[in-house]
Amino acid sequence: MPVEATIEATKTVGELAVEVPNATREFEKLGIDYCCGGSRTLGEACAEAKIPVEEALARLQKGLTATPPEPGRDWKNAPLGDLIAHICNTHHVFVRQECPRIEKLAEKVVSVHGASHPELLQVQEVFGELAGELGVHLMKEEQVLFPYVVRMEEAVIAREPVPPPMFGTVVNPVRMMMQEHDGAGDALKKLRAITGNYAVPADGCVSYSTLYEALQAFEADLHQHIHLENNVLFPRAVAMESGAQ
Ligand SMILES: [Fe+2]
Ligand SMILES: [Fe+2]
Repeated sequence: MPVEATIEATKTVGELAVEVPNATREFEKLGIDYCCGGSRTLGEACAEAKIPVEEALARLQKGLTATPPEPGRDWKNAPLGDLIAHICNTHHVFVRQECPRIEKLAEKVVSVHGASHPELLQVQEVFGELAGELGVHLMKEEQVLFPYVVRMEEAVIAREPVPPPMFGTVVNPVRMMMQEHDGAGDALKKLRAITGNYAVPADGCVSYSTLYEALQAFEADLHQHIHLENNVLFPRAVAMESGAQ
């Protein structure tokens, strides 16, 4: 299929994020939510972000042709077990490493600058809540949903009957995980608003800018993480389950 035919404003942001190389990078730059807001069409997302749709289409096209696609696997077609291993080994590990580091950093920055920059206390509170919720969220994925999807795929490949899940259907935990992703996405937006898009004030020290850099890197990784789950893993798992019944 010609590349131009895949970039249409009527496609959803999630579809474009999966199908068009470099699209997630361009969406990050444009401030278009491609993970939790992946079910909206590009036209709707642009209207919400107040960006002309022509600009987004041009950026997607330019990103596609001007820069080499990011190296990586084609997760649309790779085994779900491999995708799950990738999510756990990269994104879950990253969340677990970064949460305590950022919390400690925030504590330090609050102790020095909290009096003159009270918004830092809000940053600390919102991030602390997000970190706590993510800890439980990752555990639910790793202990309940992901092992079931791996077992289901093994059964489908072996042409064996799919074991009935204790949660009725994968649609149920998928719905719950997506709701939790929405909550995490809202927290990221709140952090961006509180910090004025992570603008370090003139009197900010090195720790201050390190904290804001770490929060931005955390945001970018969580966007990619939620994108892989909401737009690739979950729809594929739901489709596999309905095909196996
Ligand atoms: Fe996850
Ligand atoms: Fe998740």
